[in-house]
Amino acid sequence: MTAVTTAPSLSSPASSAAPGQSTAHDDGARTSAGTSSSLPVTFSGVGRSFPVDGGTRTVLRDVDLTVAPGEILAIVGASGCGKSTLLRAAAGLDQGFSGSVLIGEEPVRPHDHRTAMGFQEPRLMPWRTIHQNVALGLPSRTSRSAGAEQVDLLLELVGLSAAAGRRPREVSGGMAQRASLARALARRPGVLLLDEPFGALDALTRLKMQDLLLDIHAQTGTTVLLVTHDVDEALQLADRILLLGADPSDPDRPGATTRQVLTVPGSRPRDRGSAELAALRSSLLEGLGVDSHRH
Ligand SMILES: Nc1ncnc2c1ncn2[C@@H]1O[C@H](COP(=O)(O)OP(=O)(O)O)[C@@H](O)[C@H]1O
Ligand SMILES: [Mg+2]
Repeated sequence: MTAVTTAPSLSSPASSAAPGQSTAHDDGARTSAGTSSSLPVTFSGVGRSFPVDGGTRTVLRDVDLTVAPGEILAIVGASGCGKSTLLRAAAGLDQGFSGSVLIGEEPVRPHDHRTAMGFQEPRLMPWRTIHQNVALGLPSRTSRSAGAEQVDLLLELVGLSAAAGRRPREVSGGMAQRASLARALARRPGVLLLDEPFGALDALTRLKMQDLLLDIHAQTGTTVLLVTHDVDEALQLADRILLLGADPSDPDRPGATTRQVLTVPGSRPRDRGSAELAALRSSLLEGLGVDSHRH
């Protein structure tokens, strides 16, 4: 399916409607961006083991979950439990997993261009300008003029128009991370995969980036899988939260699995002080092995 608009649009060519993800950010923003785009992600019996001296170590097992098109899924879990491993499987960066991962209706492909990935470090090319770095994310067949126009739109979306000509060393960490997000979006991904994208930023910049992610989501409608170690970030941004961890009924069995999938109530932006969120927060912290009375 092709995009219905002739004007440059931030939406993906593979367009499908988001499932009633009505948020306060939706109104208005979408009208300037055209149709929304998003693909579902289906994990079925996903497992991953790595060879270790004389044997194998199971990191993930029996991960079953369908992420709806347009949904924001946060993935939380103890450090080293396999969050990045799961994201790499969805990006087509790792072919060694068992089970199946579908992007849309089809199995994930190596370096799947229907997805785009963002990391904790912005990974920009230091010798290129911000504009040129974002352009690196464009699909390879994009014409020069359409590409330049698309990058201009993306820089506007992430608030970097004035910094287009600067090099990465000439911008702040938050700005570099915005550029990195814009580069991921340049691919017009049906699924945006973010691995602790705001983890290296100061607290204030992180809050601004969270707002930006919601704006981007409202404008593009893309499905988002967001790995975060910040429970409050997950509660603010996600429709659902996947807690990866050992199965409580069989804690000695190696490998993390879909320990809990929580639906976060209320539309965004959410009231950080609500009793409902506080209860979810405690339950999540408990699942992560943290005493919620102390944090
Ligand atoms: N290519 C690999 N070879 C061997 N072990 C790996 C590889 N990739 C990840 N692991 C191991 O798998 C575990 C989970 O890693 P990771 O997914 O990065 O955890 P998380 O993102 O949840 O912190 C870690 O113990 C890590 O050392
Ligand atoms: Mg990780």
